[in-house]
Amino acid sequence: MHQVLRGLDASDISAGTNEQPRALLGNGGHRASYICSSRFQRGGALRRSSIDLRSIFGRSLFLKCEGFNFAGSINLKAATEMVEAAARDRVLTPRSVLVESSSGNLGVALSVIAASKGYQFLCLTDSRCNLSTGRRMEVLGSGVPIITEPDPVGGLLGARIQYVRTLCASDDRYVWLDQYTNSGNWKAHYRTTAPAIARHFPRLDVLFVGTGTTGTLMGCVRYFREWHRPVRIVAVDSVGSVAFGGLPGRRMIPGLGASIRPPLLDESYVDDVVHVEETDTIRACHRLAGRGFLFGGSTGTVVSGAMGWLGRHDARDLTAVAIAPDLGERYLDTIYQTNWLQDLYGEDVLSAGPLDGAPDSLTRAPRW
Ligand SMILES: Cc1ncc(COP(=O)(O)O)c(C=O)c1O
Repeated sequence: MHQVLRGLDASDISAGTNEQPRALLGNGGHRASYICSSRFQRGGALRRSSIDLRSIFGRSLFLKCEGFNFAGSINLKAATEMVEAAARDRVLTPRSVLVESSSGNLGVALSVIAASKGYQFLCLTDSRCNLSTGRRMEVLGSGVPIITEPDPVGGLLGARIQYVRTLCASDDRYVWLDQYTNSGNWKAHYRTTAPAIARHFPRLDVLFVGTGTTGTLMGCVRYFREWHRPVRIVAVDSVGSVAFGGLPGRRMIPGLGASIRPPLLDESYVDDVVHVEETDTIRACHRLAGRGFLFGGSTGTVVSGAMGWLGRHDARDLTAVAIAPDLGERYLDTIYQTNWLQDLYGEDVLSAGPLDGAPDSLTRAPRW
């Protein structure tokens, strides 16, 4: 692993290595086209993949799938960029210990990179962290301290950040990359995600991007503002997130949303913002799974928000793309678990009305 990853750039590391032919998958009479192509560049395999959701939701929307890499998510790109920048600036040295507060994808991504480059890594999580995610990080060699006592003001997240600050103040070997303020976060997407979308979709009209730290969004908007043709960029956030000034509320699905305004966000670049209820996220995830595509929660949010937006705009001739940050395995005990769903969202969460923008006949999950 050490040698395989060393020397490759972010797009190489984040790419899958399987070369797959163009293929069509059919399911229950509905055919979703799954296009997957690959080519080789500079010795590294670059795989690009996208799915057109027209047959599932009744509207064309291409999903750019970012879950096919060794960390299983888009976060590998930001993690790679941040680590390489810190090493270049000599903030990160062989005696350093990387430290980060993450309960999910970034922690796994940093674990992969730390293992491959020989750094030590401590990932601060809390009691809400998914068991298998914590195990995955441990197996990759990371330390995974679990914070159980919430900070009286900042809650568990605040307590995690406080712990990171205390560690860094106690010993200069600790290096905190801080994905919320690190410019490498958005630069990774400026350098890799956005150009890949532009290459794959030269007639792109509208791009939907889910927002957590807003690194993906800010990298993409900055790139497309400089591109040769105008692209509308729509940010998709969860209801209950305050990133774009909404009211704070309960959010149970990780990945998207923020309880403070993300420091990386510059709203002046963003054309539109859509907020999605978690129940709609869940229904979109199940809709996709019912057609063979097991995606993570943030993909359900982006798809639901995008379908709603496309339904409200004259979108017939638009080339629309949404970014799918990860796949669904991590969510088997939550979004795809009946008891979890019913406890939090009620008995009828999966049988409510049609998804915004999708024909009714296409939105009901099959009953077995
Ligand atoms: C599952 C998932 N979805 C969406 C995002 C949001 O990306 P960003 O933090 O770049 O806004 C992330 C990244 O943290 C993620 O892990």
